[in-house]
Amino acid sequence: MTASSTWDFNNVDPVHLRASGSGKWNKYEADVLAAWVADMDFPVAPCVTDTLRSYVESGVHGYPVTGFADTLIEVFCGYVNSRTGIGAVPELVRLCDDAVQGLHAALAACTEPGDGVVILSPIYPPFFASVEQNNRVVVEHRMAPDADGVWRFSFETLRAQIISSGARAMMLCSPHNPVGRLWTRAEAESLASLAVEFDLTIIADEIHSDLVFDGRPFVAFASLGEIVKARTITITSANKAFNLAGLKIAMIVFGSMALSDRFDARVSRRLLGAASTPGVLSNLAVYREGGPWLDAVVEYLSENRHVFAARLAAVAPAVSVVVPEATYLSWLDFSAVPGVLGGGSVGERLVVEARVGFNAGETFGAGLEHCARVNLATSRAILLEIADRIGTWVAAQAA
Ligand SMILES: Cc1ncc(COP(=O)(O)O)c(C=O)c1O
Repeated sequence: MTASSTWDFNNVDPVHLRASGSGKWNKYEADVLAAWVADMDFPVAPCVTDTLRSYVESGVHGYPVTGFADTLIEVFCGYVNSRTGIGAVPELVRLCDDAVQGLHAALAACTEPGDGVVILSPIYPPFFASVEQNNRVVVEHRMAPDADGVWRFSFETLRAQIISSGARAMMLCSPHNPVGRLWTRAEAESLASLAVEFDLTIIADEIHSDLVFDGRPFVAFASLGEIVKARTITITSANKAFNLAGLKIAMIVFGSMALSDRFDARVSRRLLGAASTPGVLSNLAVYREGGPWLDAVVEYLSENRHVFAARLAAVAPAVSVVVPEATYLSWLDFSAVPGVLGGGSVGERLVVEARVGFNAGETFGAGLEHCARVNLATSRAILLEIADRIGTWVAAQAA
């Protein structure tokens, strides 16, 4: 029996998802296949369901025992250290409601109004919003695909941008959403070297770090030696790997006491919320027992990215598709399809004309109307149907 045969990831029912209040499946009309926001369509690991069932059946939902959330922090440190080598210690970890809150809080605490913050685009849209809403200034470095379609940053251009902008921080997404990059050690080290050279704080969103394919190593920024670690704030959670976004818990991990002192002086712990009991219980469950389920889902997702790319190559060869090295998100470029360039948002057109709901490319960076992000974390049958709908739509453009 392969790991994935223990769980039936092919059993996805959009009607059930919609009826259960899934934001992903309620955004569009019922006939639109939802492949946008980063939720998986699969039921959570059984250890989560069992834990939450016991909690509900207990009928006891008052304040938990003192120190309850501290247990989660300890267990999380063991988990994250064993997987990423960032050497997290409980005193330097803060729980918050979600990773985006962590990004905002880290920016507010560790940069000043007007400071430049480097981000590599195309990028998960809240990166732009968190910088702008905190009255910092986006210093956008636009990456580009190489000859093999692998998205790369340019070290020299980035360095020049840091010098000319006087940026004070770098907000990095690793692995990188939406272009599925798993930064190599050399790439991570070169980004970190710029942070050291120009005294930048690194805010590293590593929420997708458990969703890595082909056995390649994930290189956490805070694992790159003490000098880099001391300037790094890692933001992570179980939400992506274990599909728990509705349970609202994320972790902010400081690489040094200096960073956590600065943070605590500016953001009182209460402003970060207080972890809910079901959130803590389900996080404890996945960190302690979720490993086999995670392995199985990664195996299924890994296959999905190839199945999708192969079908798309067959039905819509004009569309270029990223086979992600990590994350269950893929990036599509429709610029070679007749009538797409200059034709407005392809993401919006696909909802109306192809009945597939993606994230529109332009939300990941200006000028990307010809691109869209697709979520691959669904059943193979739905994934193939999504590819086929793209194929039908592309054929209609050429006709
Ligand atoms: C890179 C990245 N960071 C943060 C989030 C959101 O996480 P949360 O719901 O914990 O704010 C996502 C969700 O897609 C993401 O891709």
